[in-house]
Amino acid sequence: MRKCLALLMGLVLLLQPVGGFAATLTADASVTTIEMSDTLYGLFFEDINHAADGGLYAELLQNRSFEYEDILNPKSHQHYTGWQFNMIAGGKGKSSLETENPIHVNNPHYMRVSVTKAPYYLANMGYGSNAFQGGVTVNEGETYRFSVYLRNAGDYAGDVSVAITDRSAHPISETAVFTPGEAWQKFECTFTAQKSANACLTLILEGTGSLDMDMASLLPRDCFGAEWPGGGLRTDLVQTLMDLQPRFLRFPGGCVAEGSYYRSNFYNWKDTVGPVEQRKENFNTWGYMQSYGIGFFEYFCLAEALGAEPLPVVHAGLLCQARDVKEAPLTLEETRAYAQDILDLIEFATGDASTVWGGLRADMGHPEPFKLNYLAIGNENWDNIYFDRYAILSDIVKEAYPEITCIVAAGPVAEGALINNSWRNIRARFADDLVDEHYYMESQWFLNHGDRYDSYPRTTQVFLGEFAAHEPVSGGKRPNNLYSALCEAAYMTSLERNSDVVRMACYAPLLAREGMFQWTPDLIWFNEKDVLLTPNYYVQQMFSASLGDQVVASTAEGSSLYHVVTRTENEMQVKVVTLCEEEQELTMNLAGVPDGTGHVVQMTGNRKHQNSFANPDRIKPVESTCEIALGQVKVTLPANSVTIFTFPLTK
Ligand code: AHR
Repeated sequence: MRKCLALLMGLVLLLQPVGGFAATLTADASVTTIEMSDTLYGLFFEDINHAADGGLYAELLQNRSFEYEDILNPKSHQHYTGWQFNMIAGGKGKSSLETENPIHVNNPHYMRVSVTKAPYYLANMGYGSNAFQGGVTVNEGETYRFSVYLRNAGDYAGDVSVAITDRSAHPISETAVFTPGEAWQKFECTFTAQKSANACLTLILEGTGSLDMDMASLLPRDCFGAEWPGGGLRTDLVQTLMDLQPRFLRFPGGCVAEGSYYRSNFYNWKDTVGPVEQRKENFNTWGYMQSYGIGFFEYFCLAEALGAEPLPVVHAGLLCQARDVKEAPLTLEETRAYAQDILDLIEFATGDASTVWGGLRADMGHPEPFKLNYLAIGNENWDNIYFDRYAILSDIVKEAYPEITCIVAAGPVAEGALINNSWRNIRARFADDLVDEHYYMESQWFLNHGDRYDSYPRTTQVFLGEFAAHEPVSGGKRPNNLYSALCEAAYMTSLERNSDVVRMACYAPLLAREGMFQWTPDLIWFNEKDVLLTPNYYVQQMFSASLGDQVVASTAEGSSLYHVVTRTENEMQVKVVTLCEEEQELTMNLAGVPDGTGHVVQMTGNRKHQNSFANPDRIKPVESTCEIALGQVKVTLPANSVTIFTFPLTK
């Protein structure tokens, strides 16, 4: 028996080419199949996993305006989230949440501290609160902008000292001293951190009596977009987005765009614009408050800075259908009236400064209109209850702005009766609109369904608005391992081949804060100071950086080999993904490519491996070159790899 096995194995080895498995790929640059979408890869930014507050938004204080609450559990008294009272024992006082005569009607709560024995210390602990990670993270030598609204509630006698401090209230910056008057007054100053620390922002009430306080804010002076009314974005995270070269930016959700449970939770874009202390905070369906420091103005500015098409999502008069909805959708009559809000949003983006909403945009610092070519109405909605509302809203938008492409949702699943029914409705009623498909499937599904779009009629086009390959949960998370990234890469070769139908595609979710997340996997992880790029991020980056104009006809043979060949005017891009556990000798026969050198970007490794904050570079792409002679390239493809070759074309 043993002898037979040995013989068999010898035979298998003999049948294999020297050096392991072999693969071939053949393409002719002059034979193309389709024109590709120039907006194929983009980003979906939703405030999930503290992607905005505690993430991209540079604000370092949590719950700066005491609006924190949970609409599902209003008695949970979360209004003091992030704050610590009587931080240094000795002082005496009590705090209360007040609403009379606030700084603005949209910012109704403020805190009153009544001190009976001074000094009384209170502090904002930032994100992460008292936990090991987080806090108000400052860097030595960096300057921060502080502001706060204070009012003497009648009998307060004394000053208020403020500083960035360590957790024992020892200052690690200058100390500012403010004297509150009878009316609300905004006090402002800058602090420079004397050392790097997970610190806190500490206010010391030096006098006794009652003092009102609201809207305490601490922002890095030099962050990205510091001049925007919201106060700016975390520069390191913006850089990771820029490095993806996104062609579009979808925002604000996802479920966040729809709102959940109660009508008061609809995402109302008007709550998110204007001076930041006048924005009306709302419960985030992922379990925390949205400060709206990244509101619609900052969103359009960010899209512009990224060179991405804005792709706003507005609700369709329906609360998130996947959740336990407690109030009815808008009636059809109410839906017609609500359409005006959508028209106002378009005017905010594109109207000139003489219009009401264009004027607000100009006042906020952007007199020139933003571009706006897309508008999604609804997220993951389905059935007639949605399509009837979509029809009303999209008709009104198209009538006023025929140049805007409306995007209709096809539901939250890849397969089955729900999406089939959606497509039946869409083909019958909205065939000219872009269709928003979402699916999160196990990794293997992506390998098995590379032919999904081959059979889609070419008449209606698709926006793959959310997708990700999901691995089984391990240690409380679905991992961002190389295998999931390679399955996504394999699938993306089929998106490119079908990009006459699939015009846009984006991974979801985009960002997640370590220790404060609700969803895994995610494209980019971060903590208070570091950014962690996943193998999935690198796949998106590699594909986005090598987007072609046309698909080139090609054939390939090899083990678990997925590929696509594309071209621009001067270059040919060959993308090859292998899930084979052995390396393969790849021979490429490429007509139209002159002798010379090609550029290679490759990512490989153990398929189960992922990056971590301790080992962030375990899996990442490496650049090299390859030689082409007489139209032929011979390379060794590593096991479990994605490789993108770029060759100049014969002129
Ligand atoms: O991406 C996370 C969530 O997944 C989105 O908010 C929602 O649209 C989908 O269900």
